[in-house]
Amino acid sequence: MKARVTKAVIPAAGFGTRFLPATKAQPKEMLPIVDTPTIQFVVEEAVASGITDILIITGRDKRSIEDHFDRNLELERRLASAGKTTLLRNMRRISEMAHIHYVRQSEQLGLGHAILQARCHVDNEPFAVLLGDTIIHSEQPCVGQLMKVHERFGGPVVGLEKVPLEKVSRYGIISGSRLAPRVYRLTDLVEKPEPAKAPSQLAIGGRYILTAEIFNYLERARPGKNGEIQLTDALLAQAQVMPVYGHHFEGIRYDIGDRVDYLITQVEYALRRDDLRRQFEPYLKQRMRLLAKASPRRNRT
Ligand code: UTP
Repeated sequence: MKARVTKAVIPAAGFGTRFLPATKAQPKEMLPIVDTPTIQFVVEEAVASGITDILIITGRDKRSIEDHFDRNLELERRLASAGKTTLLRNMRRISEMAHIHYVRQSEQLGLGHAILQARCHVDNEPFAVLLGDTIIHSEQPCVGQLMKVHERFGGPVVGLEKVPLEKVSRYGIISGSRLAPRVYRLTDLVEKPEPAKAPSQLAIGGRYILTAEIFNYLERARPGKNGEIQLTDALLAQAQVMPVYGHHFEGIRYDIGDRVDYLITQVEYALRRDDLRRQFEPYLKQRMRLLAKASPRRNRT
């Protein structure tokens, strides 16, 4: 079924164990990239793609997400009286971007289970899913690219990114038949394959367009690794019965839940900012020179 996608679901209820202790009492999705919480980039991508209604799946210790997208009248008064009008406008914009709703996942039983919590809200409409801990830097908003493929082919669309062969064992990797440039019909999904056994280098990249049928497959999915209900298992079951598409999107993906990716994201986003690059770039260059000087010595020892 082809229909315009206006709703998005952002799962943000996970424990974030890879980022402890920072995530012990605060959401991983609120970790800042320079000065902006990760989940704000995710909401901005959804809005730039034409989404008007967003459901965030939250859980215990996630209240700061709701506070972030709500107005803070005291702060607004303070900024107004200090004449900080640009900052005031930016703060108000955060709470006016879209209709944002929340539902709690009371037990963290995996991404598939988190998406099941959205069933009542999305009703029978197709909907976008954007992982709350994943930012995609692209010219065209990533989930908007997937929406175009959905408009053309109908059915669910999984966002794909090409990863280096030595890294395929970190991802869910697909195999599929090519239908159009960068568009595939999925035939298989393999979780974390050895490089020699990987069916492709196309990894599932944190963005999806799903249709209401997914809920039936999620309900039937058996808990997999760590006792979690996996979205990929449900999608694979769906792909046996009806077409599920993959779109190799244009853009760079940053997984904020991974510490090295998080560090890389900070550096990349700081260098993209005109107000920071001038001070930050000379520091990085100097640091690189020092590293280059130190490494021959390190190699000798
Ligand atoms: P991850 O696979 O990164 O899991 O979730 P996690 O539990 O958050 O992190 P680690 O692996 O323990 O470090 C991907 C996205 O799905 C959400 C997370 O909040 C994250 O945005 N998620 C995951 C849920 O909403 N509920 C879950 O039960 C699991």
